[in-house]
Amino acid sequence: MGEHRNRATAKRDVPVMVAIGLIASLAGIALGLAIDWFPEQASKQAEPIDTLWDVLIIVSVPIFVIVCCVVGYSVFRFREQPGEEQLDGPSIHGSTKLEVIWTAIPAIIIAALVVYAWGVLRDIEKAPAQANTEMKVVVHGVQFAWTFEYPGLGTGGKPIKSDQLYVPQGTSVKFLVKSEDVLHDFWVPAWRMKIDAVPGITTSYRVTPTKLGSYPVVCAELCGLGHAFMRQTAHVLTDIGFTNWVSRKNMAAKAPAAAAGGDAGAGGGGATAAIDAKKLFAEGNGTATACGACHTLAAAGTTGSTGPDLTKALATATKDDIREDIVDPQKEIAKGFAGGIMPPNYGDTLSAAEISALVDYIYDDAHAG
Ligand code: CUA
Repeated sequence: MGEHRNRATAKRDVPVMVAIGLIASLAGIALGLAIDWFPEQASKQAEPIDTLWDVLIIVSVPIFVIVCCVVGYSVFRFREQPGEEQLDGPSIHGSTKLEVIWTAIPAIIIAALVVYAWGVLRDIEKAPAQANTEMKVVVHGVQFAWTFEYPGLGTGGKPIKSDQLYVPQGTSVKFLVKSEDVLHDFWVPAWRMKIDAVPGITTSYRVTPTKLGSYPVVCAELCGLGHAFMRQTAHVLTDIGFTNWVSRKNMAAKAPAAAAGGDAGAGGGGATAAIDAKKLFAEGNGTATACGACHTLAAAGTTGSTGPDLTKALATATKDDIREDIVDPQKEIAKGFAGGIMPPNYGDTLSAAEISALVDYIYDDAHAG
């Protein structure tokens, strides 16, 4: 009786499952394509990568949906009925035809995707026709900050160093990525490209930025307690804007007094007159990560607990102690906290005036009680 029922219904069940699977697949593909997965496309590489993503959705969603439909439908449709407890199902000895089909179809799909993806990879890694039009930028990852070096662009062929990333629009840029301690991962989501920074070797990729503007630089490899704060900003400038930035950097290097505010557009502002220390503490200056992201300070209303509570910890500290804690954070590590978490480059990312303003501000709060 049981065997009879199974055989009789198989002819009806297969079309029903196919119909459900087809409708669900179309809905799944529509949903997959409707979701806004990525930020705006700001590089030449972004477009083929996004197309590859869409193709993968179109191909993989039906497979996932059809498998789920067959399993779900079978569990419901062929569940045990009262009186069938003692029955065994029909004995099946396999089906060579089915096995060949379900091995061949995925193999063909995978092979086609491999060829297509390889073509995309070759396309986005291609060097520009004239090698001398390409710019090189060395990216240094260190717990927990990114810094950038431009070989040959400084006066006398020296490299230019920068805490924020500046690149010209429309130029192929080859990034040479290095780590000075642990694994990091250099990622600008708007450009799509992403690669590990591995201690001991140099990794690289190419990007041709196509859109002017500022984009987040993210560390995409869990690298310690400060991982979430290992962020920077990439600025895409016009050719003239970039040339101006280079000459400003070189002028600043010659006359350090003029260096304050040398990073035009960096947000912090070079003016020493009115620095809002509370804002600087709570929000950073666009280059330097906010102190408040990791530290509690009553006056600033911040509640970070990655580093010591400064209102309490600095009650007996002098202004010189506080200055040293900011520019050389590894020298002395507070009891109960791990070393190596605070970015070591606040001496570069904050101007002298900003550091003085922060020292006064933190000192006043810590000695208020
Ligand atoms: Cu560096 Cu995560």
